[in-house]
Amino acid sequence: MEIRKNISLKQYNTFGIDVNANVFVEVASLYDIKEFLTVYRTKFSSLPLLLLGGGSNMLFTKNFEGVVLKINTKGIDIIDENSENIFVKAYSGEVWETFVEYCIDKGWSGIENLSLIPGNVGSCPVQNIGAYGVEVKDVIFELEAINIHTGNVEIFQNKACNFDYRDSIFKKELKNQYIIYSVVFQLNKKPIFKTQYGAIEDELKAMSVTTPDIKSIGKAVSAIRRKKLPDTKEMGNAGSFFKNPNVSPVFFKELKLKFPKIIAYKLPDGRYKLAAGYLIEACDWKGKRVGECGVHEKQSLVLVNYGKASGKAIADLASNIQNSVFQKFHVNLETEVNIF
Ligand code: EPU
Repeated sequence: MEIRKNISLKQYNTFGIDVNANVFVEVASLYDIKEFLTVYRTKFSSLPLLLLGGGSNMLFTKNFEGVVLKINTKGIDIIDENSENIFVKAYSGEVWETFVEYCIDKGWSGIENLSLIPGNVGSCPVQNIGAYGVEVKDVIFELEAINIHTGNVEIFQNKACNFDYRDSIFKKELKNQYIIYSVVFQLNKKPIFKTQYGAIEDELKAMSVTTPDIKSIGKAVSAIRRKKLPDTKEMGNAGSFFKNPNVSPVFFKELKLKFPKIIAYKLPDGRYKLAAGYLIEACDWKGKRVGECGVHEKQSLVLVNYGKASGKAIADLASNIQNSVFQKFHVNLETEVNIF
């Protein structure tokens, strides 16, 4: 385990923001993590700790005056199986897309709709990543997390993670208390396809697929994402910058009367989830460039760095968008991305 000082985080965040961290440590095993925690508690306990996976959900607006811990633990193991399911453990440092491809290749179904999402396995439960009618909570069986204060490995069953839309206990009550070490996924040997959502069926038709399988669904999802979302390797971004907000049925009725084209989905509890992309587009932000950053031309939820934007400029753009949406619709847009 090497402790490095004043390291640029540019290559460690998908927005490509060039800020420094005071202390930067990479860990690749449980032994390393435990060793790090001992050193952290004795030498750096006054400094904030930032756990870093793929850096795909964060925006740095200034140097990080603290300790960045980059989790690189790797490995994929089958831990159990029966006639229906396979239980696969993946370690936190595995790149999410590599893991998805591995499962698709093996014919294990459950995460093919989550193809091409940037980030690592260890972050997927924290914000309960989701796309095309699937959330990762649907397939997480349990996970192992290391308690930062004791260094002990604890097991969290799915229910204990308090998953919700882009949310979990690790973003709330247990924020910065645990390092996710591995995640066990319960996947299906007999595929259960979810193709009704979004443009998957249209994309399969365009691909001339008549009998979808895991591979073709994965390919269709990747193709849709490529058309709509910028590649983090080509243009700095962090996927959806904002969450889709929930509103009460009464308020939704008022909105619908004033803005008949508003896009929303009814939730099981009667509330409505508004498409934030529509709200932002309706405020004329779609495709707008402000200096070195802007709003993506094909998806208003995505803010992009054209190359040299500062994190502060992107955060300012985000606040301006939030203000416009509030003025027009009286709706608060929450950020999905963590801002530091
Ligand atoms: N829309 C607009 N204008 C826009 C963008 C979207 O009017 O600029 C409309 C679309 O026409 C559609 C609706 O909004 O009717 C929803 O759009 P879309 O299906 O593209 O999905 P989304 O709600 O914008 C969510 C996730 C994405 C995920 C997609 C697909 C959030 C915050 N985002 O986006 O996740 O890929 O659904 O399931 O929930 C991410 O989290 O980083 C991410 C990319």
